[in-house]
Amino acid sequence: MPRPVYFDCDTGIDDSMALAYLLASPEVELVGIGSVHGNVSAAQGAGNTLALLQLAGRGDVPVAVGCGDPLVGEFAGGAPHVHGSNGIGEIEVELDEAARMPVAEDAADMLLRLSNEHPGELEIIAVGPLTNLAVALQRDPSLPERIVRVTAMGGAALVPGNITCVAEANIGHDPEAAQAVVSAAWPVTLVPLDTTLENVLEEADREKLCASRHPLTRAVGEMLDFYFDFYVAEYGRRCSALHDPLAAALAVGGMRPRVAPAVPVEVDVTDGPGRGQTVCDLRGQRQGPVDRPGANVRVVLATEGQLAPHMVERLLSFETVSPGVHAAV
Ligand code: BDR
Ligand code: CA
Repeated sequence: MPRPVYFDCDTGIDDSMALAYLLASPEVELVGIGSVHGNVSAAQGAGNTLALLQLAGRGDVPVAVGCGDPLVGEFAGGAPHVHGSNGIGEIEVELDEAARMPVAEDAADMLLRLSNEHPGELEIIAVGPLTNLAVALQRDPSLPERIVRVTAMGGAALVPGNITCVAEANIGHDPEAAQAVVSAAWPVTLVPLDTTLENVLEEADREKLCASRHPLTRAVGEMLDFYFDFYVAEYGRRCSALHDPLAAALAVGGMRPRVAPAVPVEVDVTDGPGRGQTVCDLRGQRQGPVDRPGANVRVVLATEGQLAPHMVERLLSFETVSPGVHAAV
């Protein structure tokens, strides 16, 4: 039986890759998706998600609009220089009017409802700021009792941040929410920049996606054109990091961690230069990964193998598993 998953995202380009990967993965069933502020507004993120689901012929997956602002402060306008002004690399997706509606409940309520419908079974994969999860914890502190694990793309353990010298975007855009999530009593797998930047998609991979006959796979390939331009400054060539899809693949089990100790993690919520840093206590790890007693956050520092070939294979498998496609890019 596929495992039920709630997916929380700020649908952006790598979020789109993660969504496509999850839809193509028979190990899991997406039972709900919540949008959150981040790369784009929460409303735009939900619209993008609905459009991508339609391309996959999966309009049955409910999408809820989530928090538009972080717990402290306001949405600062997103990352159009990274993901394009619409979040999906300026590609246009024609939507059926009927397919365009998010559900009435907000994302935190959706998560709580799903946790009650799948107690002890529901897994959370979060690839945006963690505001919806933090709000759900505020509304019902017993939520962790019903969740198998949270896998979150976020943080920078031993490498620089990407929005400040220490803060990674998902954590830095809502440090208070991230602190609430890593300190709650559920197992968290944190997938930080340390490893997402080491998993890279190349132009030859992108061309394979663009050549797919499946509209969603092709759309992902096309939106990556914009993302590849952004990463020239980081890698010196057109390619992209695989942030969000790596978290998805680790959660599904398609990728395995190689170095992932469970250690104490605190998020810096001060107003100084450290704000948004994931302070991971990695002392005593020189001779190999050591789990620290009582630590509930596993920090993935390295993976077995590379995600790109596996992800491309999954996204191309759509050609055989999704017959219900009816929209065009
Ligand atoms: C994270 O920030 C967002 O821009 C990406 O979608 C990813 O979730 C990487 O720091
Ligand atoms: Ca994201």
